[in-house]
Amino acid sequence: MKAFNINEQLMLGVCYYPEQWPEEMWEDDMIRMKETGISLIRVGEFAWSIFEPTEGNYQFKDFDYMLRLAHKHGLKVIIGTPTATPPAWLTEKYPEVLNATVEGHLLHHGLRRHTNYTSTTYHRLSAAITEALVLHYKDNPAVVGWQLDNEFNCEIGEFYSESDHEAFREWVKQRYGTLEKLNDAWGTVFWSQTYSSWSQVHLPRLVPGGKQPNPHLALDEKRFISDSVIAYAKIQADIIAEHAPHHFITTNGLFGHLNSHQLTKELLDFFSYDSYPQFSTINTDPKEKRPLYDRSWSLTLSTVRSISPQFCIMEQQAGPGGWVNKMDMPSPKPGQLRLWSYQSIAHGANLVVYFRWRTATFGQEIYWHGLNDYGNTPNRRVAEAAKVGKELQLLSDQLAATTYQADVAIVRDYNNEWDGEYDVWHGPFGWKSGKEWFKALTRKHIPSDVLYMNEETTLAELQRYKLLVYPHPAIMSKATAQLLEAYVVAGGHIVFGCRSGYKDQRGHCYMLPFPGVLSTLTGITLEEYTVLKGTRPATTLTCSDQSTLEAAHFNEIIQPVSATVDVLAVYDQDYYKGKPALTQNRFGKGTATYYGSVFSEEAAHYILQQLDVVSTPAPWLDLPEQVELALRGNEEEQYYFLLNYNEQPAEISLHEPAVDMITNQTLQGDIILEGYDVLILRKA
Ligand code: GAL
Repeated sequence: MKAFNINEQLMLGVCYYPEQWPEEMWEDDMIRMKETGISLIRVGEFAWSIFEPTEGNYQFKDFDYMLRLAHKHGLKVIIGTPTATPPAWLTEKYPEVLNATVEGHLLHHGLRRHTNYTSTTYHRLSAAITEALVLHYKDNPAVVGWQLDNEFNCEIGEFYSESDHEAFREWVKQRYGTLEKLNDAWGTVFWSQTYSSWSQVHLPRLVPGGKQPNPHLALDEKRFISDSVIAYAKIQADIIAEHAPHHFITTNGLFGHLNSHQLTKELLDFFSYDSYPQFSTINTDPKEKRPLYDRSWSLTLSTVRSISPQFCIMEQQAGPGGWVNKMDMPSPKPGQLRLWSYQSIAHGANLVVYFRWRTATFGQEIYWHGLNDYGNTPNRRVAEAAKVGKELQLLSDQLAATTYQADVAIVRDYNNEWDGEYDVWHGPFGWKSGKEWFKALTRKHIPSDVLYMNEETTLAELQRYKLLVYPHPAIMSKATAQLLEAYVVAGGHIVFGCRSGYKDQRGHCYMLPFPGVLSTLTGITLEEYTVLKGTRPATTLTCSDQSTLEAAHFNEIIQPVSATVDVLAVYDQDYYKGKPALTQNRFGKGTATYYGSVFSEEAAHYILQQLDVVSTPAPWLDLPEQVELALRGNEEEQYYFLLNYNEQPAEISLHEPAVDMITNQTLQGDIILEGYDVLILRKA
């Protein structure tokens, strides 16, 4: 029995750093947290030098007092293992734990995440601090769970210390067994890269032109990093599971080079994510058409949900962001903090922990604002959080056990993400197309999931969806292709974009005409293909309904080979004018659509219209584009979240009566949803 289960309640928490404030403030902080509707704090994740000021000398007195106060005021506590920030004594004495750049320069004390995951010394020291903490706090009545480390692979996701090169060599030996198999997998006969001894095997090192490794090694490097993180996390998770089986284990953040699905499945009770929607205002591609800005976080939250259907937001943005030297972000406007909290909840967050209680008055994150400002006087952000806190008490019982409901999934997989990072011929397309599909679906008010394919994915998992969009799976095993065929034969619908189906899991190209192992399912082959560069940014297409589309970045000239293929659009320009660009194959009871380009929102809209297999789950609601519809439900009831991301009010029509879950009023007819406001409805 765990002391806390994620699926039992909706709850607010806050990240708290007692070590950064005078002890005299702690109790007042906690009293005000409770007044704000906060029931949980996350503490300790950077406090190693407090817990162990010198090697083996553990000091828990201050935190003991703080935890006593937390318990007195009814606050539950998550403790973070502090291994993202080792003390100065540690890295001075054991420099082998440091990470290094590809050039071999060590990364030193002074920021955070400067260690590697492979040094056995760091394993030992991390295990020791974890064990000391767990043994000390396992019976503390305030503590309910543990966060492993903090944001694995944030700050840096590449590791080139001595121990990494050694561990990689061992990993490669385990994976391939013989040098012959390794040479074959990495295609080392090309440019005489053949290895004749294991000692010649390294992680990428500098070569002429900088860092440009053999592509198959580059793919294995990502797999190795992910395995190293998981092996490192397991050391801590095993200690917690052994001594504190009544506490949950989680970790926070979604970063590159880590299979978070595997990590969660093997080690965690649930996954946690850190949601900062305001990054969308500083990271937006200026060339992107109609970006979703903060609403685009819903796509990332869908990925989080694919890891844990109900999850925790361990850090929910609570103010303007900013380090002293970077990331200057606008302040959330009135209503946005609440809107973003519900964005998380709508997508499956049951525990929302704000980052952070109060803005730090010193250090790197001096401008990363928490709920409270430096002066600690009442402000509108605290008031907004308090509003959410009150509302969650009304919603918790009905919503806690529900999960997100969707008929469509955008499909991804780690192999293609990792291979695509280095491969400019397909890499940039996956994320772009996924985003455009998400825009089309969300603006049509069709809730969607993200589904990660792997070797264990079953037909039943696919059959939860009417439509799968798998934008550019360059790497596709024969077994996965067969699974997708079975899905379509049984009545499923699937959509692919260009560069699909042509590589095996090592990243070698199949000696097959394109789209490789997907030819049978799609009923097509490709005459040829070209990157679009130079003369024209996009080619115009004419669709079968005479509308036009623009096919940018890449054009594949499709040749149907099966009589069951319908051509849905042809190219209008160049030497392939009149040739098919978009086709649909009737295959068994379903269809496989193939688009020889990178998806735009318009192309996704057109394909959705052609498919006619999914529609909004709330035809009784007329919603303007600016409002997101998200759906949580279970067998008994569906809850409709309406989220207005725009500062302008939205006009909504309810053709049937529905109950506002917060006010308990029954609504019908035309209503106004104010700018940044949220409405949660159930059918009356
Ligand atoms: C997260 C991190 C926090 C804090 C926050 C704002 O990535 O976990 O510790 O740094 O970002 O920068």
